[in-house]
Amino acid sequence: MLYSDKVMDHFMNPRNVGKIDDANGIGEVGNAKCGDIMKVYLKVEDGIIEDVKFCTFGCASAIATSSIATEMIKGKTLDEAWDLSNKAVVEALDGLPTAKIHCSVLAEEAVKAAIEDYRAGKAPGEQDCDACCLTPTLVPAIATSWSDKLEAD
Ligand code: FES
Repeated sequence: MLYSDKVMDHFMNPRNVGKIDDANGIGEVGNAKCGDIMKVYLKVEDGIIEDVKFCTFGCASAIATSSIATEMIKGKTLDEAWDLSNKAVVEALDGLPTAKIHCSVLAEEAVKAAIEDYRAGKAPGEQDCDACCLTPTLVPAIATSWSDKLEAD
């Protein structure tokens, strides 16, 4: 089978899906090539990640990697969460197909973006899309990249 049982489990039953209304760290990243977008919400108290949720618009591996990444950082210090590597995410999922390794990179980047946002001390308050709870900030870039690609084809 292409995917491990763990990938299928996290894809079919993703953990920590949703948003945190009073999040104090939010990270959103995207891959313009595949069009997948990931958003991670952190609730940090006394340097500990008390709660974490995610919204991902993407493939099965993107959903599975976001799900397990949130499990791996919940209850951890910010420094421990910062050290979460895409390699550790892949290992925790019992592997990913080579073509899907970049999905795990997106999960690592989303966690780091949320930590950076927390450390920057920005107040949350972005306007979320009701349908997928992703902000539209990355969507125009991805739409442009797709239209460029279509024109080039
Ligand atoms: Fe790009 Fe999954 S195919 S993140």
